[in-house]
Amino acid sequence: MNDHPREPRLPTARGPLSAAVTAYLRGTGPLPRPADAGTADPYGDDLQLALYVCYELHYRGFAGVPPDTEWDPELLRVRAALEHRFHSALRADTPDHAGLDEALADLLVEPADGTGVSHFLCDEGELWQLREYAALRSLYHLKEADPHAWVLPRLWGRAKAAMAAVEYDEFGGGRAERVHARLFADLMADLGLDTGYGRHLDAAPAEMLAVVNMMSLFGLHRELRGALVGHFAEVEITSSPASRRLAEAMRRTGAGPAAEFFYDEHVEADAVHEQVVRHDVIGGLLAEEPELAPDITFGIDATGHLEDRLARRLLADWRSGRSSLRTPLDASPPAPEQEHERSPRTAAEPSPRTARAQSRRAAAEQSPRAARAQSPRAAAEGSRQTPREQEISHTS
Ligand SMILES: [Fe+2]
Ligand SMILES: [Fe+2]
Repeated sequence: MNDHPREPRLPTARGPLSAAVTAYLRGTGPLPRPADAGTADPYGDDLQLALYVCYELHYRGFAGVPPDTEWDPELLRVRAALEHRFHSALRADTPDHAGLDEALADLLVEPADGTGVSHFLCDEGELWQLREYAALRSLYHLKEADPHAWVLPRLWGRAKAAMAAVEYDEFGGGRAERVHARLFADLMADLGLDTGYGRHLDAAPAEMLAVVNMMSLFGLHRELRGALVGHFAEVEITSSPASRRLAEAMRRTGAGPAAEFFYDEHVEADAVHEQVVRHDVIGGLLAEEPELAPDITFGIDATGHLEDRLARRLLADWRSGRSSLRTPLDASPPAPEQEHERSPRTAAEPSPRTARAQSRRAAAEQSPRAARAQSPRAAAEGSRQTPREQEISHTS
């Protein structure tokens, strides 16, 4: 048994597929038949959770599940069947754009009247809705940029160098306290949320799981490297204006300085990342492998499709005064201090809140421009343009 405290507990099953996969990982039952995935709802809770659990073995795993289960051949066979069902649905449901130029151009067009999640949260979101949003997005942000790192060995030349430069920023530019996953955990702490990795998985509806599963699907398959780059481009292009709205939502509701800082940081960072991804990651990939253009387009459209489904779910719930979560936030157990990326505290060390305040002050002393000057993304400053506002609320 492996009960490392950083590994989350296995989630509660949501149907026969997820029940069988979790039982197998606990050593208490057989896997589902791969054929069973063929009739499941590709966007439903059961398939999405089963697939999420399979993928999570490639990230942090689960408490009590041996790490070598990651490469269990029978489990990989089941995962492949789940992936095939999900991937086929995405291919069938995202024929949005005829070509890559058209898809990229649409990302840069500002909707006349923004009605997306970030607009809602900016204009009228209440603190409880911001807490729910952060809990849901924590499924990605607590492993921010990890799914995209898998594409690096599948790229070379200009695309690889540019992708690595963006990832370097996402991973803190060599500073642990600036790793974006850490900044998001600080945001969650401001909102009074449990910051433990995977702690909000049971609360997340299928629409959220599908967004994160898509990243893992694209990242783990070399044949989908174009789709991964397209997905990444969509997120980076739309992130900066959405982050501005979310920072404003955090300010207006008094969520806290770390909550504001996470999105303020992304207003700056992603305006630059957008340029790097469009010009050098996509440009470099197309220069080497022009036949991947349809897959890049697919990655953009699949991201839009799944983010739209998530937005519809969240807005329908919130406008009706309902929670968007499957389990209430207060039901989450309190986070042990070691679960977040902090060292265990001693009597001589400051409290987590004091330490965060010190970290924020240190970060504030370095101006965004000075920070960029030390960073690879400074290379893109010369070509920086202000992106136009978008509906998508995702942040990279
Ligand atoms: Fe980021
Ligand atoms: Fe980014």
